[in-house]
Amino acid sequence: MKIIKLKSPAKLNLYLKVVGKRHDGFHELKTIFERIDLADTLRFTEMVNGKINIQCIHPQVPLGPKNLVYKVADLLRRDFGISQGVTIQIDKNIPVAAGLAGGSSNAAITLMGLNQLWRLGLGQKELVEYAKKIGSDVPFFLYDCSWALGTGRGDIISPMKIETKLWHVLVVPKMRMLTPKVYGAMNLKLTKFGDDVNILTRYLGQNDVVKIGSLLRNDLEGPISFLKPSLLKIKRKIEALNAVGTAFSGSGPSIFSVIESRKAAVEIYKQLKRQYRQVFIVKTL
Ligand code: C5P
Repeated sequence: MKIIKLKSPAKLNLYLKVVGKRHDGFHELKTIFERIDLADTLRFTEMVNGKINIQCIHPQVPLGPKNLVYKVADLLRRDFGISQGVTIQIDKNIPVAAGLAGGSSNAAITLMGLNQLWRLGLGQKELVEYAKKIGSDVPFFLYDCSWALGTGRGDIISPMKIETKLWHVLVVPKMRMLTPKVYGAMNLKLTKFGDDVNILTRYLGQNDVVKIGSLLRNDLEGPISFLKPSLLKIKRKIEALNAVGTAFSGSGPSIFSVIESRKAAVEIYKQLKRQYRQVFIVKTL
């Protein structure tokens, strides 16, 4: 029996500018993705019975067609006329529906895992086309890079040759944010101000942590705070600690800080852990 085990990492958005609304209803973005060392583990086991069987003990993870991993397996089985099935065991460490793209990462890793397991022979370009069909955040995880610029819906990926590894403390408040609702509450008139992505990229390349921290941006902060004002209060509290910068990731509710060293991250982690249950120290992968 063939078994493949793969890590499925999370992402942060160090920068997220909403450029405008598109005709297809999505928003045009300019975002910097960062791959982080908070990760799930996926185990793919070939099954002769022809069924897709998702296993995960996390109560918020659906096991049927709503799961992006299931969607990928179903799509590939149909397109390639695969008769075998697969059991995919998801060992969840990434908080669900948190702005960390855990489900999207799982979907991308499933594309790679099944490409191997079912010997589909898909190249990078074809994998990316499948990823785009599954979700805007999925393509990023198919690229072997720590940093990337995302444009279009966030699905057009340009990997960045940057060696910098940042330390973060990540707080995931127990609140459910629905991504379409967050984008729906967006006031596009408020997102027109400047674009510092090139400056931020330069500071990233120079590993200038203080300047990086000062240029964090997420245009979804307005709608997130409008929908859940208490999240902005939590962000303000975190900002008062000694980090160089703090921002929401994606459509929230995750809030992360950029911190100068691991030692400083441990200090901030200890303070936050007294107040919040889901706190993590994470690093660029
Ligand atoms: O692509 P994904 O399934 O992650 O998107 C979820 C929802 O988030 C979309 O249906 C859309 O409402 C919103 N979205 C958007 N613009 C983007 C990405 C997502 O409006 N660039």
